[in-house]
Amino acid sequence: MMQPKAKNIVWHSTEVTRQQRAEIFRTAPCVVWLTGLSGCGKSTLAVQLEQHLLAQGYPAYILDGDNLRHGLNRDLGFSAADRAENIRRVGEVAKLLTDAGFIAIVSLISPYKKDRAVARQLLGPGEFVEVFVDAPLAICRQRDPKGLYKKADAAIAAGKPMMMTGVDAPYEPPEAPELHLTTDQQSVEQCVQQIREYLWNHQRLLP
Ligand code: ADX
Repeated sequence: MMQPKAKNIVWHSTEVTRQQRAEIFRTAPCVVWLTGLSGCGKSTLAVQLEQHLLAQGYPAYILDGDNLRHGLNRDLGFSAADRAENIRRVGEVAKLLTDAGFIAIVSLISPYKKDRAVARQLLGPGEFVEVFVDAPLAICRQRDPKGLYKKADAAIAAGKPMMMTGVDAPYEPPEAPELHLTTDQQSVEQCVQQIREYLWNHQRLLP
């Protein structure tokens, strides 16, 4: 792990233990990390999962790439270096949320394996649930909810790169994700149910 730049800084602990938080919230906090192409359904799943968990009294909160790029990450673009920094920051915030007792639902393209590995390393065993939200590129292009694939095609035709994931920037699929969801074959409800079952079966959600 990288050392802080500042010297003379000391870690302060609180009086509240993780165990106390877990008992109050009936949760073993973790990060549900949704990765996949633009248009694969990450945000839709994140929103439904958050609602589903909260309705049952479990604390959950979404960290969405697009939203965070309006504030915390507004200084970052889409180069490989900027995406690495984006993912590192969101990983750190997600870790803070788990410390607070929450299930952090992260929705980020996070196209590079090594960046996702960095986020995974920030967390303890079982606390990083990588979910590959998988839909073929052709389907994502068809859906094109934000018109970005169209824009990328136009940019490339005009000789300007856009670094659009799946078009002129790579996406490296996870090799061993905790969950692999195929959003072109399963409904949103089925996908949310699979995540819920995973969390339940791995004692991240407690009775
Ligand atoms: S990541 O690659 O660094 O993980 P992140 O999830 O934060 O990306 O942001 C991706 C979002 O930014 C997409 O959902 C899309 O709306 C928008 N976006 C704008 N330009 C691009 C681009 N060149 N590549 C990918 N996403 C883009």
